[in-house]
Amino acid sequence: MNLSTQNLSLDIGGRRILDGLCIQAKAAEVTVIVGPNGSGKTSLLKCLTGELRYSGGISLNGADISSFSPAELALWRAVLPQAIELSFPFTVHEVVSLGLTTGLASETGCSFDKLVPQALERVGLVGYAPRPYQTLSGGEQQRAQLARVLLQVWEPTLYDMPRWLFLDEPVSALDIAHQLMVRAMSESGVRAI
Ligand SMILES: Nc1ncnc2c1ncn2[C@@H]1O[C@H](COP(=O)(O)OP(=O)(O)O)[C@@H](O)[C@H]1O
Ligand SMILES: [Mg+2]
Repeated sequence: MNLSTQNLSLDIGGRRILDGLCIQAKAAEVTVIVGPNGSGKTSLLKCLTGELRYSGGISLNGADISSFSPAELALWRAVLPQAIELSFPFTVHEVVSLGLTTGLASETGCSFDKLVPQALERVGLVGYAPRPYQTLSGGEQQRAQLARVLLQVWEPTLYDMPRWLFLDEPVSALDIAHQLMVRAMSESGVRAI
């Protein structure tokens, strides 16, 4: 099961941002997209996650993503955008819990109460659950959001299908130690949590 694009093109404001892109990513592997500022990495990610309209095709686990409803897409992939602004005074626990929208935990007999602390531990934020999210540093917020998306795909396969993480500059606000933590996570982790 793969992620692939077929002749993917994107125009924004009359300018071509992506032009006939054909790429493939394999499940259980880390695929990294590198390029200069403004080369279209975020735009590509937004196409892959169904956020932007594009021409061409994008397949996820053997089906075109246009055939998925938003709720179905949320089953198969979690997205960490480059920047996230919260308008409400959520706690870290509440932010991370937003990843638990699918009801899968109860289906698999796992307790919701345990998953949030596990996700926070995975990103080095033990004890942060009751803190107001807005009081966290930029790097801590980035790790709390990473915990949220890890939680969304905490079962890396579902009905024998792989689940995908899309991360836009996931270590941009992190110190070196936490950059290495995320790198080790991606190298080691078939299990998200
Ligand atoms: N909403 C938008 N309106 C106008 N131009 C945009 C918009 N979004 C992205 N662009 C332009 O598209 C190009 C690619 O942007 P982006 O995908 O964010 O690049 P990257 O993530 O590689 O730095 C840039 O030149 C950017 O200015
Ligand atoms: Mg970008």
